[in-house]
Amino acid sequence: MTDTPVGIDAIEIHTGKLKLDLAETFAPAMGDAPEKYTKGLGLHASSFPDTYEDIVTMGANAAHRLMERKGLEPDDIGRIDVATESAFDHSKPVSTYIAGCLEQRFEGNFHHANKGERKFACVAGTQSIDDAYNWIRADRHRGRAALVVATDTALYARDDPGESTQGAGAVAMLIDEDPDLVELSTEQGYGSADETDFLKPQQQFPSVDGKRSVKVYLARMREALIDYQRVGGTIHPDDFRLGPFHTPFPGMVRKAGVLAYRHITRGTDIEDELAEEIGKQPRREAFEDEEAFMEALTEYTDALKETDHYLDWYDRTIDPTLDLAREVGNWYTGSVHVARVSGLKSLAEDGEDAVGQNLLVGSYGSGAQAEIHMETVQENWLEEIEALDIDEQLENRYDLTFEEYEDVHDAHNYDKDSSVEEFRPPEAEFVFDGWGRMGERKYRYVE
Ligand code: CAA
Repeated sequence: MTDTPVGIDAIEIHTGKLKLDLAETFAPAMGDAPEKYTKGLGLHASSFPDTYEDIVTMGANAAHRLMERKGLEPDDIGRIDVATESAFDHSKPVSTYIAGCLEQRFEGNFHHANKGERKFACVAGTQSIDDAYNWIRADRHRGRAALVVATDTALYARDDPGESTQGAGAVAMLIDEDPDLVELSTEQGYGSADETDFLKPQQQFPSVDGKRSVKVYLARMREALIDYQRVGGTIHPDDFRLGPFHTPFPGMVRKAGVLAYRHITRGTDIEDELAEEIGKQPRREAFEDEEAFMEALTEYTDALKETDHYLDWYDRTIDPTLDLAREVGNWYTGSVHVARVSGLKSLAEDGEDAVGQNLLVGSYGSGAQAEIHMETVQENWLEEIEALDIDEQLENRYDLTFEEYEDVHDAHNYDKDSSVEEFRPPEAEFVFDGWGRMGERKYRYVE
């Protein structure tokens, strides 16, 4: 067992190359007010895959850039784990396809790397990081690093309420000893229960109970926070600089933020400071029944939301983690990892020295499980964040009309035949190249 620091050494993001503007294009077509998206859900746009993009191309393109930038060869990688809830095969894992793509571009191969696919809705990306962490800490890695790829086309059926929160993209992460970006805490908290809020039983698009899914997210996150505190000790708002949470849409994190703040300020100097303005937090023992307690708690939370204490904390700790999500929508397994990048990118743009600062990372997957852990920003974080080209990618996306969006949705729908043409010609990237004799997908690199 090694006790060397283990964490995320490098990260790359690949967004789907198409964009649907929610306020300008989607809202009018749906007969909605644009503010439902920009204010209510907190989203401006969704990313979509072009006709030749899918979970493999997006994941492989992110991983390719990461390996090139870090000067890695296949022999440096001992594991490739892909987290996705958009897999197209019940047997052959997406990681084999991604490895196959990468082998087209590097000398050597990944024949001695352990490959797999992780499934637990959106929390699977974090679970893959866990697996890599444990593999390294158990000293089974032979000095090699793990490649974790979280990749999804988060599409909903047309006219499903979830349609407004779609997205598509991939995050590739290198998990290694002495990481350049963040070190992961050994301590973790879990909140996990058998829930029926969002699932895909043998179907491409999810069945979703949207309103219930919001409640389940909040309940599991709360459990995970309590569980984390059992091993990591009490958390105070000053203990962490950013709180990247799973972000199906920013409005969800806004709901989670105030509950988390209430929880971690209970019994602290902050609760005392706030007492003059909004009173102390209700305690269960002071109420005769649960209903009265819950009513008082809701009243306190509503008042807390409006205080300067909370709003300042939210603006500093949570809001910067949502900048990218506002422009790309939900990337399922990649979402919390986009939130981490978004927050760090904002600190970098503000010229803040984040070395040694902590992040409280909250991952969530429907079905349902939340996980909470702490991360510590490492010395070379700025170099890693400045190497990202996500702004350029976002800038270059093709802006779809509503009719084009309908065509793209059909093009990615397994049940529809579509002959829609590509919107952006591929350049220096992996593309889907048709079907093989056993129904497998083929990929090639376009120079
Ligand atoms: N101006 C300002 N705000 C407005 C508005 C306007 N004109 N019109 C509506 N709003 C607000 C609403 O008040 C609401 O905010 P609150 O929840 O704070 O009240 C918000 O905009 C959304 O409006 P609706 O609730 O009417 O929206 P909806 O019925 O279309 O559904 C949803 C919203 C349930 C989240 C739906 O998008 C959905 O099902 N999404 C997929 C499931 C999901 O993302 N769940 C999140 C938790 S599960 C998870 O995290 C896993 C995962 O990745 C899927």
